[in-house]
Amino acid sequence: EIDFFFPHQRTLAVIKPDAMEDHKEKILEEIHSSGFSVSQLKETVLSKEMAEEFYKEHRGKPFFEQLVELMCRGPCMMLVLTKENAVEEWRAMMGPTDPAQAKVSSPKSLRARFASDILHNSVHGASDEQHADEKIHFIFGEIDTDEKPNHDGTV
Ligand code: TYD
Repeated sequence: EIDFFFPHQRTLAVIKPDAMEDHKEKILEEIHSSGFSVSQLKETVLSKEMAEEFYKEHRGKPFFEQLVELMCRGPCMMLVLTKENAVEEWRAMMGPTDPAQAKVSSPKSLRARFASDILHNSVHGASDEQHADEKIHFIFGEIDTDEKPNHDGTV
């Protein structure tokens, strides 16, 4: 199994409440077909306090309140994705923050296809490895990092 030897990286991916109803299945399909393994998965409704903590880097910005309101409006799908270069690859798959820009620069990206505006932009991804570790810990608590996901993405 050659796969075993690749240095897998982890990232946190979130399907945000605005995309859960209409696009969840399609996004999950694309995650699998793009070669990510899903090592943790849970659907959860964030409390206001959790949403504020999750996006604490943006506290004080003009869009912060709306962002928090959106994030606890309904269930989110939280995923720990593993793959070589997972952080960057998931960011590339999401596309730019603003779907208007995504439609121009990355028309195949998830945000180009599924987001309606810069706030309701369907998915989240950690911006670097440190944030990935921090947010995975915040959402999932202690998880066994030596755990090897199965090839079908199940644990
Ligand atoms: P940011 O971390 O800049 O973008 P990304 O999600 O691509 O890492 O912003 C976090 C979220 O805040 C973003 O996904 C949607 C929201 N947001 C707005 O609503 N308006 C804005 O002008 C920006 C920059 C972000």
